[in-house]
Amino acid sequence: MDNVIILNHPLLKHKISLMRDKATGTNEFRKLVEEVSLLEGYEALSDLPTEDVEIDTPIETCITPMISGRKLAIVPILRAGLGMVPGLLSLCPTAKVGHIGMYRDEETHEPVPYYCKLPKPIEERTIIVLDPMLATGGSAVDAINQIKKLGGKNIKFMCIIAAPEGLEKLHAAHPDVQIYIGNLDRELNSAAYICPGLGDAGDRIFGTK
Ligand code: PRP
Ligand code: URA
Repeated sequence: MDNVIILNHPLLKHKISLMRDKATGTNEFRKLVEEVSLLEGYEALSDLPTEDVEIDTPIETCITPMISGRKLAIVPILRAGLGMVPGLLSLCPTAKVGHIGMYRDEETHEPVPYYCKLPKPIEERTIIVLDPMLATGGSAVDAINQIKKLGGKNIKFMCIIAAPEGLEKLHAAHPDVQIYIGNLDRELNSAAYICPGLGDAGDRIFGTK
């Protein structure tokens, strides 16, 4: 599939395995979400444009590349996407952060949106949407619909675990969006949870339930 990048670094796979373990507590889980997000972000930002600038080193003056002024927006889907923000901000501390609030209806599994605030001018920014879990794909599709409606164009989506069903739905709805995935799992169960997955990402990050 064009625009779908399933990451394959052993460090990333190791950390995702630790996240899956139900014995991993909230504090460690949060740290792992941050570390995995940083590793994925490193890949997702590999096409950031650079420009040559002049720098005086202690030895001489040289022409050397730096990230050029392209504006970046990080947009977590609440709640669980919030856990991925520090990893991305440690790579790009000057990025602006938008928020999209939605939760899945427990019975229909359809997303219920409740909040959207994006940094301006959104149409000029590279936008990275963050959500650790791509399950049915409903939340990601709806979040990106909202961003496009507000003018967003250059959009990437980053998750830690995806189900094949969600990946297919997201790619079909938004084929222009680059999708970065830490691991593609087997399937959804009847409650639309990812198998083997890691359970409810929001609850594990925030210690609820
Ligand atoms: C989880 C997860 C995604 C969504 C994925 O959020 O963080 O946003 O489910 O499912 P989908 O692909 O089937 O839409 P949840 O609804 O549990 O809300 P929370 O982050 O507030 O816990
Ligand atoms: N949301 C989660 O947090 N986990 C899943 O497995 C599916 C949706």
